[in-house]
Amino acid sequence: MASNKLVMLTIVAIFLPAMALATDYIVGDDSGWTTGFDYQAWAKDKVFRVGDKLVFQYPKGYHNVFKVNGTGFKNCDIPPENQALTSGNDTIVLKTPGKKWYICGVASHCSMYAQKLTVFVQYPFGLAPAPAPTQPSVPATPAPAPRLPVTPSVPATPTQHWAPTPAPSMPTTPTQPWAPAPAPWAPTTPSVPATPSEPWAPGPAPWTPATPSVPTTPYI
Ligand SMILES: *[C@@H]1O[C@H](CO)[C@@H](O)[C@H](O)[C@H]1NC(C)=O
Ligand SMILES: *[C@@H]1O[C@H](CO)[C@@H](O)[C@H](O)[C@H]1NC(C)=O
Repeated sequence: MASNKLVMLTIVAIFLPAMALATDYIVGDDSGWTTGFDYQAWAKDKVFRVGDKLVFQYPKGYHNVFKVNGTGFKNCDIPPENQALTSGNDTIVLKTPGKKWYICGVASHCSMYAQKLTVFVQYPFGLAPAPAPTQPSVPATPAPAPRLPVTPSVPATPTQHWAPTPAPSMPTTPTQPWAPAPAPWAPTTPSVPATPSEPWAPGPAPWTPATPSVPTTPYI
């Protein structure tokens, strides 16, 4: 029972920081999204994580925001107009880890006035550690695997594990012939046999009888 609490605390410890610390970054702070601002200096001392937001703020019509790749960032290649964000308060949720690039596509703001931003987005707290930035092989999906193995170790309902094995063939009849009154191990829980193959009942558990016909049991 205490271990249940521990698991809960562990889960909270893993996820609470990720949620509580999600940050909205106003790009350029008070300067907003504009020409002649050093966005690399602005981003340099910040840690961006999955779940954080970039908010590009500017007078509508004067600038816009394109998400590009590294080549487009370097060369200031402006994508098709219909890919632009133009609201003047453009919010981008950082959904995946890795490097991201944004440029302004108005006139020559990118090429002449360095209106461009690149950030490196890290995994959220509690998931995989920050990958080495030099690794080109970024996993396509942020697999949340590391935290999953915690749960199976806790026997949530230890009294029910052995019940399904004696009579898996007839789960519908509540009054089982294999459960006589004097048997100490047969409580009145007929609902269990409906699901004989539970994922939480792995083989190595010590309470799982390898063979149902145990000679030492008092019934027969
Ligand atoms: C970068 O984006 C441009 C325009 O979408 C595309 O043509 C080019 O193949 C991309 N380059 C890489 C390395 O993905
Ligand atoms: C900008 O958008 C954010 C949501 O992304 C909103 O909370 C905020 O009020 C907006 N600011 C302005 C000035 O519209």
